[in-house]
Amino acid sequence: MKIAVLVSGRGSNLQALIKNLHGFDVEIVAVASDNDDAPALRHARTANIPTGTFIAESFDDRTARDLAIADWLDENGVELVVLAGYMALLSGPFIERFRDRIVNVHPSLLPSFPGTRAVEQAVAAGVKVFGVTVHLVDEGIDSGPILLQRAVQLDGYSDPTEVHQILQTIEHELLPEGVRLMASGAVTRDPGNPQRLIIGR
Ligand code: GRF
Repeated sequence: MKIAVLVSGRGSNLQALIKNLHGFDVEIVAVASDNDDAPALRHARTANIPTGTFIAESFDDRTARDLAIADWLDENGVELVVLAGYMALLSGPFIERFRDRIVNVHPSLLPSFPGTRAVEQAVAAGVKVFGVTVHLVDEGIDSGPILLQRAVQLDGYSDPTEVHQILQTIEHELLPEGVRLMASGAVTRDPGNPQRLIIGR
């Protein structure tokens, strides 16, 4: 399956995808970014993956930008879109074009702590169990059906940066696992409850 990865920043999840999808029937054919300074783009270029930058200033509005990204992904035959630290909100028409074919990784146990600064929110709330969610993307904020989750008990941590570092090691395993599951065709929506995903044939 041909996939695209959308990035805005550091790109450690992109690196994990490049490494952990090797040998599976999944090929990263495009890396798109809303930030032409994103270190993630360097990782893509090192791995000889075509990159595209779509900065807001070059477009009339978000929808125009997102449709340009969607067109570029289509030209590259992309079947699945992976958000790996993509910080811009995707507009409705993009989500419609790739309905149920967009995966995101989020550093909390959704539906707790959606949106930005999830780890800071969780630390401020004094939670003892943190975690990572891989989910499908819909029009809401981190509200799409949950594909995978992994929890970790972290008592006594008050530094969000430290917690995020621990969560990222989980992300680097969970996101490639989620992509492999999606690519294998093993994921369907529960007809009785479309918010629930069923894994397995
Ligand atoms: C990750 O922690 C992810 O959960 C969040 O943004 C971060 C991106 O990190 N959505 P990186 O750019 O993959 O290193």
